[in-house]
Amino acid sequence: MRRMPRPRALVTGHTGFLGPFAVAELSASFDVTTVARSGGDLQADLSDPTAATAVVAAVQPDFVLWLAANARIADCERDADAARRINAEAPSRMARGLGPRFVYVSTDLVFDGRAAPYAPLDATGPLSAYASTKADGEERVLAEGGRVARLPLLFGADRAGRGATAMVRNALARGEPLSLFTNEYRTPIHCRDASRALAALLPQTGGPRIVHLGGPERVSRWELGQMLCLVHGLPTGLLRPAECQDPLRPRDVSLRSEFACRELGEMLADS
Ligand SMILES: NC(=O)c1ccc[n+]([C@@H]2O[C@H](COP(=O)([O-])OP(=O)(O)OC[C@H]3O[C@@H](n4cnc5c(N)ncnc54)[C@H](OP(=O)(O)O)[C@@H]3O)[C@@H](O)[C@H]2O)c1
Repeated sequence: MRRMPRPRALVTGHTGFLGPFAVAELSASFDVTTVARSGGDLQADLSDPTAATAVVAAVQPDFVLWLAANARIADCERDADAARRINAEAPSRMARGLGPRFVYVSTDLVFDGRAAPYAPLDATGPLSAYASTKADGEERVLAEGGRVARLPLLFGADRAGRGATAMVRNALARGEPLSLFTNEYRTPIHCRDASRALAALLPQTGGPRIVHLGGPERVSRWELGQMLCLVHGLPTGLLRPAECQDPLRPRDVSLRSEFACRELGEMLADS
């Protein structure tokens, strides 16, 4: 019996922290093509005004999952125009003509942190250049008929040591003290759970235009660090509670989300 061809999914930014988890989950039901500057099935600087449309023309994807970003807060402050090119202009160019088959991955940081927990249709109020370029990206993609999936703080076992829990584990392994904010609240999620949800969301073109994929619990960075140590039997003596005073970081961007994921403790055990 002949097998039905699988839908083609294009994933941008697969070489980042979330990318490998997303590609692994999507590969179960899609033929995945990847693109980033440093390699993949295709290599392209998507900030280049012609690149996004050229990649779509070459791949002819049924669906696009847009992960590519300049997600470094300090870099975006230094050069907001460059950040806007990759975080807002490039995804809106790629979204053109794809409608709801294009999903733009965004961040809880588009909110100002004064009215948590946030529902998908709540007003945004970005505080930093990063958040502002992501909010701009959301608007432009929605104007093209695309969809937005907002993610919270991510963690997960990562060889390059990226993510909220790797930072804690690496500092403890080096025997260095680590300050963790007691007044910055998020709804963190493991990259694997976020990726499963994104893979399920991608083909649901008739669903809501904006979706929140927050984790199951509202916790501060400090609480997350303590829970991680408890789950893995690590000493907590090097963790130091600290107050965040940074005006660019919202204090509470917990997300209201409606989807099934693992308990926070189970996710932390896997990181
Ligand atoms: N990490 C988090 O906690 C978090 C939380 C909420 C939302 N998000 C969102 O989730 C997405 C993935 O985040 P992440 O942490 O995986 O980001 P990341 O580790 O910084 O990875 C960014 C990816 O974008 C690619 N990229 C950057 N500039 C590019 C360009 N000009 N052309 C083509 N590709 C480019 C990078 O690859 P090359 O350098 O090889 O080009 C890399 O693959 C982002 O959209 C981010 O805003 C992340």
